[in-house]
Amino acid sequence: MDIYVDSANINEIRQAKELGLADGVTTNPTLVAKENGEFTDILKDICKEVSGPVHAEVLSLDFEGIVSEGKELAKIADNIVIKIPMIEEGLKAVRVLRSEGIDTNVTLIFSASQAILAAKAGATYVCPFLGRLDDISSDGLELLGVIRSILVNNPDLETKIIAASIRTPNHVVELSTMGVDILTVPAKVLKQMGKHPLTDIGIEQFAKDAEKFK
Ligand code: E4P
Repeated sequence: MDIYVDSANINEIRQAKELGLADGVTTNPTLVAKENGEFTDILKDICKEVSGPVHAEVLSLDFEGIVSEGKELAKIADNIVIKIPMIEEGLKAVRVLRSEGIDTNVTLIFSASQAILAAKAGATYVCPFLGRLDDISSDGLELLGVIRSILVNNPDLETKIIAASIRTPNHVVELSTMGVDILTVPAKVLKQMGKHPLTDIGIEQFAKDAEKFK
């Protein structure tokens, strides 16, 4: 199981890397827009920091635009993966980029049928968004389970799942139990994962009792 950092912030990425939690990085236009600097420069810096896949999203929505932007982004570094939104023009672009050896991630997946289309187009990764489904009272984890079953039962589809829009440590636990290939987790949730009030109480108690030996 790989854990990626869902961030375009170099400090968050470095901190996660120190804990062995940066097997890769996912970005999207919203995450990159929070940072200072040019779109491409921000991605270049991330690629220098992380040796695993760095997912960079195209901004175009038409076939030609997606293909040419994808090819340009792919020049940034060998570890760039091109993130493409789940639209028909995007799926056509996935096929072309794949034929040129460029890895793709079809993002904004909210149904199992969309995942099938992306996998058939030749996407290296599909990216279902759990949290955004939960936000509208749908069951993100259930969708992940269905997509996982489809890919496990059809090994000719060589697509990997990246579970995205993760909002809680419990999402991480449930997805790990399920055996999802990759989880992309925001820095805030990575920090929350290590927290437990009983750990804090235990540390405080041990520190107090250790005073006797000082
Ligand atoms: C990652 O690839 C996605 O863009 C990201 O996880 C979306 O998360 P959000 O729903 O919290 O914006």
